[in-house]
Amino acid sequence: MSSQAKIKVRRLTAPDIAAHKGGQPLVCLTAYTTPMAQLLDGACDVLLVGDSLGMVLHGMPNTVGVTLEMMILHAQAVMRGSSQAMVVVDMPFGSYEGSYELAYENAARLMKESGAQAVKVESGPTVPETIAYLTARGVPVMGHVGLRPQAVLINGGFKAKGRTQGERDRILAEAHATADAGAFAVVVEGVAEALAREITQAISVPTIGIGASPACDGQILVSEDMLGLFDWSPKFVRRYADLRGDIQRAVQNYADDVRARRFPGDAETYFGKS
Ligand code: KIV
Repeated sequence: MSSQAKIKVRRLTAPDIAAHKGGQPLVCLTAYTTPMAQLLDGACDVLLVGDSLGMVLHGMPNTVGVTLEMMILHAQAVMRGSSQAMVVVDMPFGSYEGSYELAYENAARLMKESGAQAVKVESGPTVPETIAYLTARGVPVMGHVGLRPQAVLINGGFKAKGRTQGERDRILAEAHATADAGAFAVVVEGVAEALAREITQAISVPTIGIGASPACDGQILVSEDMLGLFDWSPKFVRRYADLRGDIQRAVQNYADDVRARRFPGDAETYFGKS
């Protein structure tokens, strides 16, 4: 074999991610499509096929309407576009809360049909037992505490969590129960720094913050938010690009070219060099 033979890079796994506890912060972003996965793969430890895709790609008002079939389709696309990052897929609303068996059947479908290595569940009071059931049967699970987008209809909107002592105690207890049930990492969303730090110090697996301060073991953002695709994004999101402006300018330039008949390209250039 030549000395220049390609070194095969293996995909990160749940134990690799868990090993980041207290160490190098985890870099995580959402991905829903093959081209985006290709762009993010090399820089990220985790690509999350989040059910936020219902809002970001499909114009839904919240994540409640997202189906298992949508998650499978987008997870397949992300797997085709990545080879290094661990791919975690959100279990959508209604696919895991009903019974342990239902949760297992749907988690197994997500993993078998997409090839993704783990699922994420929003870890309300009843969910840690489901996490224990799944992990005991070979399904790596990421938890999600604090602001839980799938509870939006109960909560009456997307609201910061942990504002009262009672709520802080409950979120800390849920994070504990989630880690104790076998989750390999826990997303902590929409809580104040003091609570994020307390959770991070208290549990044995990495916390991944979103709108939860730098006190976590890693961070995750919705890629389209941090790339500036929308005219609005949550206050905690730093925009690293202005895709919205770039696309609007590009489309205007294209429209100007078409209208001015400045448009290059015919049968000869179609297959030739541009
Ligand atoms: O659905 C999602 O994208 C998420 C994260 C942003 C954590 O759950």
